[in-house]
Amino acid sequence: MRKVLVTGGLGYIGSHTVVELQEAGYEVLIIDDLSNADLKVLAQIEKITGTLPHFEQIDLREKGKVTDFFNRNKVDGIIHFAASKAVGESVVNPLLYYENNLNSLIYLLQQCESHSIRSFIFSSSCTVYGEPDSLPITENAPVKQAISPYGNTKQISEEIIFDTCTAGLLQAISLRYFNPIGAHESGEIGELPKGTPQNLVPFITQTAAGLRRQLSVFGNDYPTPDGSCIRDYIHVVDLAKAHVIAMQRLFSEENQSNYEVFNLGTGKGSSVLEVVHAFENITGEKLNYKVVDRRPGDVIEVYADTTRANEVLGWKTEKTMEEALASAWEWEKKVRGL
Ligand code: WQD
Repeated sequence: MRKVLVTGGLGYIGSHTVVELQEAGYEVLIIDDLSNADLKVLAQIEKITGTLPHFEQIDLREKGKVTDFFNRNKVDGIIHFAASKAVGESVVNPLLYYENNLNSLIYLLQQCESHSIRSFIFSSSCTVYGEPDSLPITENAPVKQAISPYGNTKQISEEIIFDTCTAGLLQAISLRYFNPIGAHESGEIGELPKGTPQNLVPFITQTAAGLRRQLSVFGNDYPTPDGSCIRDYIHVVDLAKAHVIAMQRLFSEENQSNYEVFNLGTGKGSSVLEVVHAFENITGEKLNYKVVDRRPGDVIEVYADTTRANEVLGWKTEKTMEEALASAWEWEKKVRGL
């Protein structure tokens, strides 16, 4: 049974990917520093799959501990989620982001070299595209000047991985996520941001659950049909399944080059107000929201061209944005005991 290390495996996307990996027959090891995840997610994963992943709490910035982990654990492939990911926080504390996101990656790649681990999947983001020149966005779109240190760490990370692959040491795939939303159908795992949610959908569900008084819609004066920003909201389980397919692609050496990039989105854009109204229609909950000023750093419109993922990776989304919203609401209600 091939062994896959999932860093950040107790986080939102990481935990959903661990479930899909286990269900696909892989043995999963998790490293997480629990800075943005809860240890109880481990038992929730076991409740879904019946298998408790091997878990070690390690801060990947501690090079000695990373080295020790790989000396003790044989690993066939790595899916690397662990990173700081709050856009706003990265503007206030850039050095934390450069140290955490880049040092962690470098120490992992050094272990790949030391232990001849040749299969590496990287959690990247559509944020590398910045404000696109044309839509939908393909993987050949120019990578733009990052609008946040967070986005810059994703760009630099992709370059580090590309150079490592070019040196012939590694086979890697970067997966550029659009906007992951929703929760596992079991209701056992889902998005559980610490503190005030930065992202739209957890803020919506917490408002509907009565934890937040009002949702702020950041601007309705953009050049879009209803004036609010447009994004490509993808169900987190569809996203997780893409990671299993990408891992299998590398293990079976189907990759067409040492370094490949795929957009993971639905290919459909939805505005903030469309998401708000869809949530109200699906759940029957009336959302208390108010249009306020624009949020600095927001791009106007971004959604994926999914041709490469569909035709080369052999993956496509199976769930709609509406299904994702419904699952997010079911998860919120379960977490809050509603
Ligand atoms: C979506 C839209 C907001 C909150 C970021 C990162 C991306 C990835 C996902 C990590 C925007 C609007 C939001 C709110 C609102 N992160 N909004 N009220 O900014 O597209 O992407 O998170 O991997 O890399 O860039 O996601 O959910 O924050 O915002 O009106 O309370 O919702 O203005 O138009 P974003 P988001």
